[in-house]
Amino acid sequence: TDLDTFITGLPKAELHLHIEGSLEPELMFALAKRNAVTIPYASIEDIRAAYAFGNLQDFLDIYYAGADVLRTARDFHDLAAAYFDRAAADGVLHAEIMFDPQTHTARGVAFETVIEGLLSGMAEAEAKHGITSSLIMSFLRHLSEDDAFATLAEAGPWLDRIAAVGLDSSEVGHPPEKFARVFAAAAAKGLKLVAHAGEEGPPAYVWEALDVLHVDRIDHGNRALEDEALVARLVAEGMTLTVCPLSNLKLCVVPEIAAHPIDRMLALGLKATINSDDPAYFGGYVGDNYRAIAGGKGLDRAALATLARNSFTGSFLPAETIAAHL
Ligand code: ADE
Ligand code: ZN
Repeated sequence: TDLDTFITGLPKAELHLHIEGSLEPELMFALAKRNAVTIPYASIEDIRAAYAFGNLQDFLDIYYAGADVLRTARDFHDLAAAYFDRAAADGVLHAEIMFDPQTHTARGVAFETVIEGLLSGMAEAEAKHGITSSLIMSFLRHLSEDDAFATLAEAGPWLDRIAAVGLDSSEVGHPPEKFARVFAAAAAKGLKLVAHAGEEGPPAYVWEALDVLHVDRIDHGNRALEDEALVARLVAEGMTLTVCPLSNLKLCVVPEIAAHPIDRMLALGLKATINSDDPAYFGGYVGDNYRAIAGGKGLDRAALATLARNSFTGSFLPAETIAAHL
């Protein structure tokens, strides 16, 4: 088989996907019209032209502005349905998707509207494609600890539908430690824990995510490679890293795919996985990310298969379901 077919055919899970980051310009335009929301773009080409980022914050400014077209449960349903159609076509069998409730509740969109719309899209995708999924509720780290606690309280009626809490948005200046108590409260409620760490932030933030937040996975983790003792710790714990090659390229975490450290991560024994992060903004879904590193790094089929296996062993699926996928 050719490489494309091989990659699509690899059974895989996606563990690092912001559902708001799967809002394609076409859907953004359609929802702006449907909801009579004004957006600062005259055309779909105009939107795409705005997607040139010098760093994480450049992207976040545009990503939060784009989310303003999402107003009704039907919008969140349509957003999720479109993502799952793409994921299923890429051979994704299971997805653990992040959502940012504060991006919406701050605009007056109810928590219930967001989560009920997403859950209905997830149920439809399971019926249509057989793809399973769960939700990761991410706290925006540029907002306060109090705001995160209020969000955790709002999620109360849906806690049995949420697998984990996460931590995203502007990393530098907002260390994991800021959310130690919220993460402890989420763990006490039986939720799993993940956090973005080491995307732009220093290795110290990865240490904090481990030692202070007690996370079950690290999102990104690129800068952990700067610290040998930290790498040893991550390897010893079998900690899963949810790596996002095209995101790293578009946010200038790496200058080119050929310079991406994914091969070094595998050689060091790190449990790396391949994910799309915000596919509508970074130029590709999970299959495109596998293809980018296969081409740009020359990873062989065995390495690609290892990455895909790691996506199941690093998932929050029950052990017997994981075993069935391997
Ligand atoms: N929110 C959406 N994508 C993100 C990323 N890559 N890093 C931090 N916050 C995000
Ligand atoms: Zn992310």
